[in-house]
Amino acid sequence: MSHELFIMTQELKIVPTADGSNTIFNSQVGENYHSKHGALQESRHVFLNSGLKYFIENNRAREVKVLEVGFGTGLNFLLSAEYCAEDGVKLHYTGIEAYPLSQDLVLQTGYDQFVPAPVWDSFIGHYANSLNATVNINQNCQMRIAHCQLLEFESNDKYDLIYFDAFASARQPEMWDEKAIRHTVGFLKPGGVFVTYAITGNLKRTMKSLGLKVEKAAGAPGKREMLRAIKRTDL
Ligand SMILES: C[S@@+](CC[C@H](N)C(=O)[O-])C[C@H]1O[C@@H](n2cnc3c(N)ncnc32)[C@H](O)[C@@H]1O
Repeated sequence: MSHELFIMTQELKIVPTADGSNTIFNSQVGENYHSKHGALQESRHVFLNSGLKYFIENNRAREVKVLEVGFGTGLNFLLSAEYCAEDGVKLHYTGIEAYPLSQDLVLQTGYDQFVPAPVWDSFIGHYANSLNATVNINQNCQMRIAHCQLLEFESNDKYDLIYFDAFASARQPEMWDEKAIRHTVGFLKPGGVFVTYAITGNLKRTMKSLGLKVEKAAGAPGKREMLRAIKRTDL
């Protein structure tokens, strides 16, 4: 897939999903950025409840480092930032994105209605500056969009949580192969949690071979199961 595909905004169209929240359809890839059964529902279920809340509750964490693969519209970031602000948890968020959306398209998502105004205003106000630079969203929350391909991403930081939100393996298999998953999991701390909306035999095998404990969790509407994997602490 070439970089140009994503930069051409005519390839990207705002479309509604079944819960009334919007997503983006990429006609070149032939896929939505979120589940057609509900963008908001999926983001809340997979990344917020099964990822962030699970990690905070199990670790009594007051500070969390999140790495997202496929930042896209920023919906997962927005819900996480809101939750952490309310819970008084410090959030350090890095989103890897090879093809950042224009600010205009992000504004058209209508996601301002799902988070309090201070979170949205700060996110939109800092969006352009957050490309390859850390910005303060509020006193509890920092974020950065790493503008690069997944395999080009490098960091000395290790993360508590990975939100893996790539396009489906049928559309972009290279994001789900052993090399990509090994690279991603290399940024996870021991005891850290990896969540994604899908589960396949290949993904489970790869995770186990990399020393993660695999859990099946109930999927978001439209998917029976999703994957949560936890990095062993003895590695
Ligand atoms: C399913 S969408 C992500 C949805 C996003 N989390 C959201 O809430 O809007 C997949 C994302 O992966 C990005 N992407 C595609 N190939 C990539 C690559 N090689 N490295 C990093 N990001 C990539 C796409 O541009 C797209 O934003």
